[in-house]
Amino acid sequence: MIPDEVVEQVREAADIVAIIGEHVRLKKTGSVYRGPCPFHQGTNNNFSVVPGKGYTCFVCGEKGGVFNFVQKRLGLNFVEAVKYVGEKAGIEVIEVDKRREGPDPREPLWELNATVSAWFTEMLWQNAVGAHAREYLIKRSITRETADRFALGFAPREVGLMREYLNGLGFDDQRLLDAGLLVKREEQDEARPRFRDRLIFPIHDTTSHTVGFGGRLLGPGEPKYLNSSESAAFSKGKLLYNLSSARSAIRKDERVILVEGYFDVVRMVDAGIESVVAPMGTALTDGQAELLERNAKTAFLLYDSDAPGQKASFRAADVLLARGVTVRMVVLPDGEDPDTFVAKFGGAAMEKLLTNSLDVFDRKVQLLERGGWFADLQRKRRALDALMPTIRSTKDQITQELYIARASAAAGVDRSVLVHELSVVTTGSGRGSRPRQAPPPPRDRDPDAPPPPRPLGPYRGSSPESSAERDVLRVMLLHPTYIEEIIERVGRLDDDAGSHPEVEIDEQDPRGALRDPVFRSIYDAIAERGAEVSAEQLSEALDETAVGVIDALLAEPGAVIDPRATIDGALRLLKERLMQDKLGELERMTPLATGAEKDSLLRESEIMRRELTALGGRSWRSVRRMIE
Ligand code: UTP
Ligand code: MN
Repeated sequence: MIPDEVVEQVREAADIVAIIGEHVRLKKTGSVYRGPCPFHQGTNNNFSVVPGKGYTCFVCGEKGGVFNFVQKRLGLNFVEAVKYVGEKAGIEVIEVDKRREGPDPREPLWELNATVSAWFTEMLWQNAVGAHAREYLIKRSITRETADRFALGFAPREVGLMREYLNGLGFDDQRLLDAGLLVKREEQDEARPRFRDRLIFPIHDTTSHTVGFGGRLLGPGEPKYLNSSESAAFSKGKLLYNLSSARSAIRKDERVILVEGYFDVVRMVDAGIESVVAPMGTALTDGQAELLERNAKTAFLLYDSDAPGQKASFRAADVLLARGVTVRMVVLPDGEDPDTFVAKFGGAAMEKLLTNSLDVFDRKVQLLERGGWFADLQRKRRALDALMPTIRSTKDQITQELYIARASAAAGVDRSVLVHELSVVTTGSGRGSRPRQAPPPPRDRDPDAPPPPRPLGPYRGSSPESSAERDVLRVMLLHPTYIEEIIERVGRLDDDAGSHPEVEIDEQDPRGALRDPVFRSIYDAIAERGAEVSAEQLSEALDETAVGVIDALLAEPGAVIDPRATIDGALRLLKERLMQDKLGELERMTPLATGAEKDSLLRESEIMRRELTALGGRSWRSVRRMIE
């Protein structure tokens, strides 16, 4: 059985003209469409389709709605017909088991959320406690009409108000706790509202249930935005803010615009650009990409123009490309987000930006070209390394071919070289050996939640090579007199590693001397401050994990007996690793090289091999084999 509301939704969203148009040659006449009747095999245009309504044949008398047509024409039963139309309309149709009587288990939560959402709205507009929230909206030029369109609300600072109101309606505390509207830090603590003094953005799922909230602090403080906590009913990775409202616009415009924040959505819609959605403080997930893919084949990414925004948008692009969605990049002027841009320049200027957008791949190539990344062989290699992941993740064959052609033209490299690279999985040296990066922390970490557990046992780093990095840090921490010398020597190794293009989407350059993200952050914090660095400065500058690792390094039993020998040994290993990687890179440059270039590559590799041998001891690879 399919729930009635879903059937209705599919019926509403269905483009009956397009669906019937797949079977009947329809011609627009006035406000209706006409064609030959497929049921009595008519030849005259006696069959008429009214958009949004249904069809009628004036000769044989067949008539009905979109589901009737699909059922009769394709021989489907009702459930199949709804699924068929739902698929085309981008609505997920899930059959529920008739025998499992009773409502959806999430129903009580939806009910509670809808109730509290209305209360938040009342607090915003009808209550004295909402005065400064109303001022805030005025300051951000959000009109009442726009606010109501998004059902914005206000969660007051006062601790008892919401609870009293909801208790009075029969929602007991346990239910409020389950819904995450109330939270307790410790079991014995008094429950407090999760959202306090925040402007509230209700969040809906695709079937328009209120599944959770986002709240923006009105004053300064952290975190700026707080979302409902993750649960079966509220899973950010499967939701997009504004999707349920934007869906018909998305389908009509045949595009979806992805922005980063709530206010960006509100401002765009306010300016008449309605096909806009936002992920909620998470990197775009495959689940969200799937929701988008069902509704539009083209996505416009409209992220902040700063470096993190650019990285996030290229990463989102790869997720969408993997779903076969065409991705276009919109470039905002420096320092603007969609909200501020539209507020300053208006919706027409925004449409112009959208028109001037570039396909994501062309944008990458453009950035690489501007940065001079196709100038010589080594830079070409790195530029291609930055382009390959995008080519690789592109699901659509034709698009992938196009990208290969463009990369090949930009780099002046034969396409067969790129095709070959796509077919081999890189391992060993070069890009294959990068350490796994921990995903960036979500931006809305719940301040009421306990801190994440520290890893058990001493932190070993992200790769077997990290023990040398660890040794370097231990000497820096235990023997500050060596700090300057170490900074000197590590700096030289880092310089040797060379730079990488900006469109690289890695959080950090994983190819310097120290690569483990935690060790690197500690090293950088020390290096920035020099030998005079204090423990307090470090713990202020670093995150919890890094501070924990420093404590552990300091507490480790056994002194560094010979700091000089320890540094020499560690840096030798780190240098070997770098050289092995460069050797790998040289090897991977060979297919890109022309005749003369090939010769010099060979010479360079030979020199490097000799240097590696001269570094003495075991080669890095054999050390690695030993550790693994
Ligand atoms: P921004 O900080 O860029 O938001 O975060 P913004 O919309 O420009 O903020 P305003 O204009 O100062 O109000 C973008 C989005 O990232 C998520 C929210 O979804 C926000 O809309 N975010 C941000 C969080 O989840 N938590 C945060 O602490 C910050
Ligand atoms: Mn903003």
